[in-house]
Amino acid sequence: MSSQPSDATPARVEHQHTDKGYVPVYTTAVVEQPWAAYTAVDHDVWTQLFERQRTLLAGRASEAFLVAQDAMGMTPDAIPKFSELNNILQRTTGWTLVGVEGLLPELTFFDHLANRRFPVTWWIRKPEQLDYLAEPDLFHDLFGHVPLLMNPVFADYMAAYGRGGVKAHGIGPEALVNLTRLYWYTVEFGLIRDADGLRIYGSGIVSSKGESIYSLESPAPNRIGFDLERIMRTRYRIDTYQKTYFVIDSFEQLMQATEPDFRPIYARLADEPSHPAGTVLESDRVFHRGTGEGWAGDADF
Ligand SMILES: [Fe+2]
Repeated sequence: MSSQPSDATPARVEHQHTDKGYVPVYTTAVVEQPWAAYTAVDHDVWTQLFERQRTLLAGRASEAFLVAQDAMGMTPDAIPKFSELNNILQRTTGWTLVGVEGLLPELTFFDHLANRRFPVTWWIRKPEQLDYLAEPDLFHDLFGHVPLLMNPVFADYMAAYGRGGVKAHGIGPEALVNLTRLYWYTVEFGLIRDADGLRIYGSGIVSSKGESIYSLESPAPNRIGFDLERIMRTRYRIDTYQKTYFVIDSFEQLMQATEPDFRPIYARLADEPSHPAGTVLESDRVFHRGTGEGWAGDADF
């Protein structure tokens, strides 16, 4: 464990030379959550975001997500203590939350997941950033990602993804691109078909006020049935709401899709062009064909 920050400011290791250029990076160390250092403002940001999202998510988020969040004991009262959540999480699915300073290098991240450790950014956004923040903070990680780790099937999927990530990292950058799209369109921006209709389970959506509504109710985006290879070929947006959301039937479907070895798939996809984020294919199972209204130009990632 590294030393605890003395106040609620992320310990960035500013501007290092990396393979991505001269960029700010975070330390990869696991840090103790500096719970006592959170200010009243920090707790208030959590309370405001928690209450706002839970109100919005009633009838929009997957029942499994809402039930799991309550079962963990997450409440709007104060920023939860990782140690208390871990008591429940470890007993339920064997996962452990570990505190980190921010986004981690890919391989470090995959290694955590493969070993059932979920890295959670310990700091929370400022009051003026309630609606949008470019990088993950405590609210996104804890409110958005952690509840479904209570679900046994989804918990297994996340660990399998971590193992797959370690493997893909060894295969090469193209395999990693394919795999990252799977994470993006499921863990971050996935929709699920519940008994009562389409519901949200992706953490990027559940932690966003605007996208919680847009993803389900806007006529603009496509909503298409989950298809592993199709997703691995599809580019995505990092700067706007998604042009396409992929819909799973169940978490079991996700888990089954990730059971085969991806090596032959990566080899096949290496010779195929990728699809733009907003394209609908003939072979797609279309729940809704997007109108494309308000879409930004071609800047898919
Ligand atoms: Fe995330």
